[in-house]
Amino acid sequence: MSVPPTPNWSALREDFPILQQQVHGKPLVYFDNAATSQKPRSVIRSLVHYYEHDNANVHRGIHELSNRSTGAFEAARARTAKFINAGSADEIIFTRGTTESINLVANTWGTKNLKAGDVILLTELEHHSNLVPWQMLAQRTGAKLAYVPVTGDEGLLDLSQLDALLTPQVKLFAMVHISNSMGTVNPVAEMCARARARGITTLVDGAQSAGHLPVDVAAIGCDFFAFSGHKICGPTGIGVLWGRPEVLDGMPPWQGGGEMILSVGYHHTDYKHAPHRFEAGTPDISGPIGLHAAMDYLDAIGRENIWRHDQDLAAYTYEQLAALDNIRLFGPKSGRAGLVSFLLKDVHAHDVVTLADQAGVALRGGHHCTQPLMHKLGVESTARASFYFYNTRAEVDRCVEVVREIQKFFGG
Ligand code: ALA
Repeated sequence: MSVPPTPNWSALREDFPILQQQVHGKPLVYFDNAATSQKPRSVIRSLVHYYEHDNANVHRGIHELSNRSTGAFEAARARTAKFINAGSADEIIFTRGTTESINLVANTWGTKNLKAGDVILLTELEHHSNLVPWQMLAQRTGAKLAYVPVTGDEGLLDLSQLDALLTPQVKLFAMVHISNSMGTVNPVAEMCARARARGITTLVDGAQSAGHLPVDVAAIGCDFFAFSGHKICGPTGIGVLWGRPEVLDGMPPWQGGGEMILSVGYHHTDYKHAPHRFEAGTPDISGPIGLHAAMDYLDAIGRENIWRHDQDLAAYTYEQLAALDNIRLFGPKSGRAGLVSFLLKDVHAHDVVTLADQAGVALRGGHHCTQPLMHKLGVESTARASFYFYNTRAEVDRCVEVVREIQKFFGG
């Protein structure tokens, strides 16, 4: 696929009505994109259009509106397959988000394939959504958890230990693509290849990567890839699980109900194949339609371009913040994704975020749903600025100026 020319970034900002506002009397600087991205007009319009013209349940009626709704829903599935270079639309399961995608794998594939003594290998960078479902599965099955260690504040994995950790007991290796608290970009293709060579099933949490860089599940070589719509300019409540077809075929259903069945008797049910087998009940219909518009929007910009822009803003921010005194920066010194986590000496991250908000700058403070990682680094929380393509260097300058003011306020 050819890369679109470098976009006019400031013109793209005009597509986002929410960015054109003041907060507490100051122009909004929205730096909480790792939590959720903003939505362009084309996505908002696709939702309005659906509800004003086509709303009906999918796969059930044979009336015109139901046909339109079903057509749009399945077109979104085919578009999603193209977005991540999946082999076919049947490999795309719609879920509520990354969290539900991972829970689906843990509950179906995991319950079927894991037993006492088996090992689930994770990394110390994982978000709670790629950690708690595996703990719950381990409790149910008697499997154990093991972790690829993180080396320190730079948030890099110690991959020299990977071969020793990939023991014959490991049945699943689940890993984050881009760390939401450190900005680390893991070499997931290499990590999956090393696991795959030993017959280990792999899952990649793509929540922070799917909308920020080109994702090709065939090139990554994983068995499962999970991501959320709301972090890539789509609506909340829609997520994706991609699964390798031969792995999906062997998985039992998860939730039972309408739409996932071939035939039902009082004592027995035959199930549909993937993906419908995993989508019981009336699904989120507008979600995939909005997601479709978001994917079209992002690919018109070009995820290669977005990735370059993200990395430029992150490197610029890191450089500006590193020049301040009494600041601790987290994540890789180079090659980081579009976010920067930091702590000011003697200032709680929540105070940084509260004061930044008064200046119109939206940051996130807390453990970022990575409590074990925070504890490993010896902190309770960090402040985090996370970017998307509509952010600018001028906004970074404003944010750094605000951080300096906060330091002064606290006598730094
Ligand atoms: N995982 C999201 C974040 O990092 C919510 O903010």
